[in-house]
Amino acid sequence: MQLHTLRLRSCFVTTTSSLPQRHPTPPIIRCSSTAKSYNITLLPGDGIGPEVISVAKNVLNLVGSIQGIEFKFNEMPIGGAAMDLSGVSLPEETLTAAKQSDAVLLGAIGRYKWDKMERHDLKADTSLLHLRGGLKVFANLRPVLVLPQLVDSSTLKKEVVEGVDLMIIRELTGDIYFGKPKGYGTDENGNEIGFNTEVYAAYEIDRVARIAFETARKRSGKLCSIDKANVLEASMFWRKRVIAISVEYPDVELSHMFVDNAAMQLVRNPKQFDTIVTNNIFGDILSDEASMITGSIGMLPSASLAASGPGLFEPIHGSAPDIAGQDKANPLATILSAAMLLKHGLGEKKAADRIELAVLNTLDRGFRTSDIYSLGNKLVGCKEMGEQVLKSLDAKTHASV
Ligand code: IPM
Ligand code: MG
Repeated sequence: MQLHTLRLRSCFVTTTSSLPQRHPTPPIIRCSSTAKSYNITLLPGDGIGPEVISVAKNVLNLVGSIQGIEFKFNEMPIGGAAMDLSGVSLPEETLTAAKQSDAVLLGAIGRYKWDKMERHDLKADTSLLHLRGGLKVFANLRPVLVLPQLVDSSTLKKEVVEGVDLMIIRELTGDIYFGKPKGYGTDENGNEIGFNTEVYAAYEIDRVARIAFETARKRSGKLCSIDKANVLEASMFWRKRVIAISVEYPDVELSHMFVDNAAMQLVRNPKQFDTIVTNNIFGDILSDEASMITGSIGMLPSASLAASGPGLFEPIHGSAPDIAGQDKANPLATILSAAMLLKHGLGEKKAADRIELAVLNTLDRGFRTSDIYSLGNKLVGCKEMGEQVLKSLDAKTHASV
């Protein structure tokens, strides 16, 4: 337990400052012999997933060669891709490989063909929930950072978004996503119904609340817990437990907000927030909303952490089947997820910082995928964007050696 606490603590030292500029670049030494080796499970999944994962894999390999880290990749099927292959969306072998690795990097999940299925076990998205449940990654960190280079990409006014730097901590393995009973049936009047259960146990709220308080403590010391405690019992209980845990963190200023108001405040004045903690379903919705503060959901990485064992790292965008296979996807969220993997999953902060700096440098040099394009910049596809990030990584190497 002590070890877990330490691991999480060290994670949060690094979550506190996701601004790459704050970290000076350490001198680069290209190592001829590799000192460390990690097993990474790659789950490309569906839609644009394979395209963005292939780019992120190249970035990891290059940063590994710079930092003297070897990555052994094990690519496994998940989602619709796995359904096509084996008839199940999360094959046993995939979950086992993920559990046995040091960290898991996921592309995206979801295919039209399988999404229409009514049966839960035949839906591609369900595999992601089973994977999260199987890895017990209960704390989902979704940083929302407005990069100065992209301040004009947001549909919101520049003065509203400039300088936004918030961290959404979403509970990831409980709530209405996992609650029972659930299913289809008939009510007492004979009407057909579908139902789910929103339920939280105290330990589930307590552990994610502690992570949120730790994170807030290392950031600006402000934590906002978002719920619907005016109406829902599960939310009233959530608030009660968060308040109970707050006693352990007297230095953190805790506030509460109803989710409908929070949805409005996020676009009205996002800078009022620093660290947000919320349940699974509200976190899902609010993080998509918050991504648009940054200009594109194609920019947002995420880390899902367990008390022990491998973390799961994934861009928050979905499989985008409409642009899949057309080399149009923005790979930056996956590249930044790879950076989170290094930082939070493996404790390789220097390598993570290098990737973040390379992404900034690529944007500084004017390269943009279509989702973040603005006039005067260079429009590129997914592969070219990846090549440019590699170039930035490599250029920095040569410049510093
Ligand atoms: C996310 C996604 C998933 C979720 C889906 C694909 C199951 O929307 O990671 O935000 O609802 O958690
Ligand atoms: Mg979502």
